[in-house]
Amino acid sequence: MDRIRIRGGNTLNGTIPISGAKNAALPLMIASLLTDDTLTLENVPHLADVEQLIRILGNHGVDYTVSGKRVSSTPGHGRTIHFTARTIVDTTAPYELVSKMRASFWVIGPLLARMHKAKVSLPGGCAIGTRPVDLFIDGLRALGATLEIEAGYIVAEAKGGLVGNRFVFPKVSVGATHVLMMAASLANGETILENAAREPEIVDLATCLNAMGAKISGAGTKTITIEGVTALSGARHRVLPDRIETGTYAMAVAMTGGDVVLEGTNAALLETAFTALRAAGAEVSSVANGIRIVRNGSGVHPVDVVTDPFPGFPTDLQAQFMALMTRSSGVSLITETIFENRFMHVQELARLGAKISLSGQVARVEGVGRLAGAPVMATDLRASVSLVIAGLVAEGDTTVNRVYHLDRGFERLEEKLSACGAEVERISG
Ligand code: UD1
Repeated sequence: MDRIRIRGGNTLNGTIPISGAKNAALPLMIASLLTDDTLTLENVPHLADVEQLIRILGNHGVDYTVSGKRVSSTPGHGRTIHFTARTIVDTTAPYELVSKMRASFWVIGPLLARMHKAKVSLPGGCAIGTRPVDLFIDGLRALGATLEIEAGYIVAEAKGGLVGNRFVFPKVSVGATHVLMMAASLANGETILENAAREPEIVDLATCLNAMGAKISGAGTKTITIEGVTALSGARHRVLPDRIETGTYAMAVAMTGGDVVLEGTNAALLETAFTALRAAGAEVSSVANGIRIVRNGSGVHPVDVVTDPFPGFPTDLQAQFMALMTRSSGVSLITETIFENRFMHVQELARLGAKISLSGQVARVEGVGRLAGAPVMATDLRASVSLVIAGLVAEGDTTVNRVYHLDRGFERLEEKLSACGAEVERISG
């Protein structure tokens, strides 16, 4: 299994290109199931999760080409991929595939909408809490589907097709909003989703669905209205920049000091995180080709953050911000409100010398003068990159094991950091 070795102590200077957003690419790819026409997606990141979803979609009958070639022969990044679900050959998403990635469960929406039936394994994914699927079940039932759980599968049916309705999410869910938006696009009549997720990735999916002929308004607000249509067509859509990758590298620079331009991204995608970074002492500014992050050696100020659905502080940046706070000049409180078990990085950061105590959903981080390199274990996608950030300033070598978590969500991480002066290398095997 690959490992990443980091020798800490270098500042970061230069330019880091930001990839297309994983969390937008996945639902966009799944939207290809809604039409027998070709959906072309540009700026698709080269990530393990994307490859895994390509396999899952292939199982349903989605064909894909990359600039005219089969995807496996093109190891590049920022690819343009053409997805065509001419015929849905299978409406079952098996356990072996779905258990590896939670988002693959989302195929249930398009399959039900187009084929009026689906059998989808209950999901797996990052071990960051119980992550139930009740909101998907209730929402799809509101659109007229019957859903039963049988032997680890959800068996769903909508005889005669889905029917538009009003559904109020009792809790904000990104995935359930994606799924209901896709399903309602092909439902009979109007659907109104209240208390919908407002993440930029929701807006990106709505923009793409509208380009395919859907009638969606209000995406990015709490109320989304979808006027069902009888069929969707193909479209061409560019995946928006990855705000979590953007925030991660911004925090890395705030940690090491230096001057880096994050290319091809924009500050509007993560204002709350940048407010916290500025309070911590980093300079963040918009430049022509992206965002510039500067921190001179003036130290990191302690800042409290609370994770919240967009536009709040993203849970997907909580671990990275905690890594930064381990070097602050005081005490910071980090509160996780989205997932109940998203502090697995705490014990690994402690191995590097961090002082963190947990009380329920709150982590109390007491800044320390120095971190010391050590072998650590990646436990989930975002937690693992927080260990990389800490390793960038830890004295000596930090080795991050179980790097496959990183490969699920960060494209060419070691290459991007090395180009800015970090000593980071991948050790194979
Ligand atoms: C998405 C993101 C993930 C991010 C999360 C929150 C993708 C591929 N993943 O995950 O990176 O951390 O949003 O911003 O886009 N919940 C229920 N019942 C449900 C569904 C969700 O109780 O049926 C709960 C979850 O357990 C969690 C909260 O709602 O506590 C938010 O989860 P949700 O927004 O659905 O996360 P994902 O879409 O899985």
